[in-house]
Amino acid sequence: MSEMLVRAAEPPDRIAVDALHEREWGGPYVIAHDVRYDLRELPTLVAVDGAVDGTATVLGALVWRADDDGLEVVSIVADSSGGGVGSTLLAAAIEESRARRAGRLWLITSNDNLRALRFYQRRGLRIVAVDRGAVDRARRLKPTIPTVGEDGIPLHDELVLELRLAPEPTD
Ligand SMILES: CC(C)(COP(=O)(O)OP(=O)(O)OC[C@H]1O[C@@H](n2cnc3c(N)ncnc32)[C@H](O)[C@@H]1OP(=O)(O)O)[C@@H](O)C(=O)NCCC(=O)NCCS
Repeated sequence: MSEMLVRAAEPPDRIAVDALHEREWGGPYVIAHDVRYDLRELPTLVAVDGAVDGTATVLGALVWRADDDGLEVVSIVADSSGGGVGSTLLAAAIEESRARRAGRLWLITSNDNLRALRFYQRRGLRIVAVDRGAVDRARRLKPTIPTVGEDGIPLHDELVLELRLAPEPTD
């Protein structure tokens, strides 16, 4: 693989990004903290290989939204795990948060996603809340959410993680 770049998704990336979301979430809709998001309608960062001959490949995608409560990572998916794509995308989202002077970057993950919990905590995020039964509520809106998740863990709850961002010093 050549050098990895992160940039805002462009229309030609749509098919590859949609395919990642189909693989991971079964389509473009996700439910987090009782809100249904259409990932196609939110700003998206893509990690691509650095090919400059027009054949750049999408290696991963991070979908975000921002409001007064900070920048929320609504989805992060790497095409293949363990190659640094997730770290590179998360670093870019932190940079975006800082550029927007957001007070925090935050996200939710489900109680079974031990790999994601490891990934986020090793990158400085803290668990700040547990919403007991949030995934059970989401399942009523999206019945394809399984009752048993990764590693055979019963899937019930959402964990909220955040990275507090100190304001940049002003000169
Ligand atoms: C979570 C996710 C985005 C991380 O992306 P990634 O590209 O694998 O991340 P990185 O390669 O930068 O880092 C992964 C870490 O796991 C380790 N790892 C190694 N092999 C791995 C493997 N086969 N699977 C997962 N992680 C692996 C890496 O070494 C790294 O460890 P470190 O913390 O010691 O550096 C990715 O696993 C993914 O797409 N998961 C499915 C979707 C998902 O659960 N998203 C989060 C929902 S909230």
